[in-house]
Amino acid sequence: MPRMAPSGERTDATPPTFRHFIAGEWADSTSGGTFESRNPADLSDVIGRFQGGTAADVARAVRAADVAGGLWRRTPAPKRGEILYAFGALLAQHKERLARAMTREMGKVLAESRGDVQEGIDIAFLMAGEGRRMFGDTTPSELPDKWAMSVRVPIGIAGIVTPWNFPIAIPCWKMMPALVTGNTVVFKPSSDTPHCATLLVELMAEAGFPPGTVNLVTGSGADVGDAIVDNPDVPVVSFTGNTETGRRIAERTARRLKRLSMELGGKNGIVVLADADLDLAVDGILWSAFGTTGQRCTACSRVIADRPVLEPLLERLERRTRALRLGDGLDPATDVGPLVNIPAREKVEGHVEVGRRDAELVTGGRLPATASLGRGVFYEPTIFAGVAPMDRLAQEEIFGPVLSVIAVDGYQEAAIALNQTRYGLSSSIYTRDANTAFRAMRDFETGIVYVNAGTIGAETHLPFGGVKATGNGHREAGHAALDTFTEWKSIYVDFSGRLQRAQIDNQPA
Ligand code: UN1
Repeated sequence: MPRMAPSGERTDATPPTFRHFIAGEWADSTSGGTFESRNPADLSDVIGRFQGGTAADVARAVRAADVAGGLWRRTPAPKRGEILYAFGALLAQHKERLARAMTREMGKVLAESRGDVQEGIDIAFLMAGEGRRMFGDTTPSELPDKWAMSVRVPIGIAGIVTPWNFPIAIPCWKMMPALVTGNTVVFKPSSDTPHCATLLVELMAEAGFPPGTVNLVTGSGADVGDAIVDNPDVPVVSFTGNTETGRRIAERTARRLKRLSMELGGKNGIVVLADADLDLAVDGILWSAFGTTGQRCTACSRVIADRPVLEPLLERLERRTRALRLGDGLDPATDVGPLVNIPAREKVEGHVEVGRRDAELVTGGRLPATASLGRGVFYEPTIFAGVAPMDRLAQEEIFGPVLSVIAVDGYQEAAIALNQTRYGLSSSIYTRDANTAFRAMRDFETGIVYVNAGTIGAETHLPFGGVKATGNGHREAGHAALDTFTEWKSIYVDFSGRLQRAQIDNQPA
């Protein structure tokens, strides 16, 4: 058996087989079944076979996390932080290898994969520092000779369910705050990126997270995801994915009164006003709409253009979009990589059909003609004009390289159109007027607002998340991430030596 290495170095022509990671050991699934991960730029390239996990595998992982939790939660937080720091350093050392593996597994261009790993490094270092912060309040009591404080305590076992579009960054956003605050984790990655998850967990083990603190179970949402969500010993779940799945998870976790943090869909808009720097706006729009092939929660899928600049904006967008080069993300000449899988492309095609009926196709709207791209899941970057704010194109999350342009008259109309969506993750405005920029910061109903920048590019030390159907009120990253993974404990110490009744003994008789 030459294919036992957990990292799955290619040792022969047969794709390597990878395993779960439970209690510090690489383990086969009880199902005996496996599934494949393939390169979306060339579907004949099989990256490996992965364990088709079961509820029994999840139960084993939860037991391991429970056993490890006893010691981990009592490990001083600064010591836990040191392991996060070591992990961040290892990620930095292996950045290029991980980025290449990422592009091969989910398709985005190499520069973006490097950025994804970097986001993992950033959050590891940020959360390593929380090991020495994790501040609570110390505060006077209302009674004499009494003192009060609040401290954060871990919740227990965190179920981490992650998507494929940021296969290193998002698991790190979730696992780093969970671990530094003293929780242990059971991690189920997307079945489109199990290899990235395996490489990540290998480095976590190498960094010194004790056996059982981090457990990886691969497999389907129905078999593994649901088993995590339903497990009574997993009191907190963090999920990033689509709104429908999120709603289902919310219903199930609600029945068990679990903590749930969700980051769901987006329909992010960029407003371009008549006074905008158009070239700057076009740079931001292209990067936000077609970066990661439009497959970011933060991707811009709506441009809301002030009528005086509509025509020049469309002309520039069309010209620049036609010049984008589609290809394998590992090729340095590539601007736009493939979609993640065939169902993703079918979804895009469905939306484009709707667009052809309702709006005016500016460019794209088809599979590329280049023969070599036929091996992968490519689709031409697509722009529609003449879209109305309530059209399906402008309402439904497409998660692909499809941009709709909506025409408006002035800021007021733009702000209304921007907010006419059930989602509320990210938004942007291009204007040279400082007053208008501040009105947008106030008026745009999203968790993230950009001024004179596109809708993508959130940094890890600020809260990340959205309002309305984008989530359930939680935030990732920043200090806010600690709130997902900790309970507050308020502690009162009375050193008066007598009974003192709050709200009573300090009041006039
Ligand atoms: C996502 O698409 O779910 O701001 C995350 C951004 C990245 C994170 C995106 N830093 O686009």
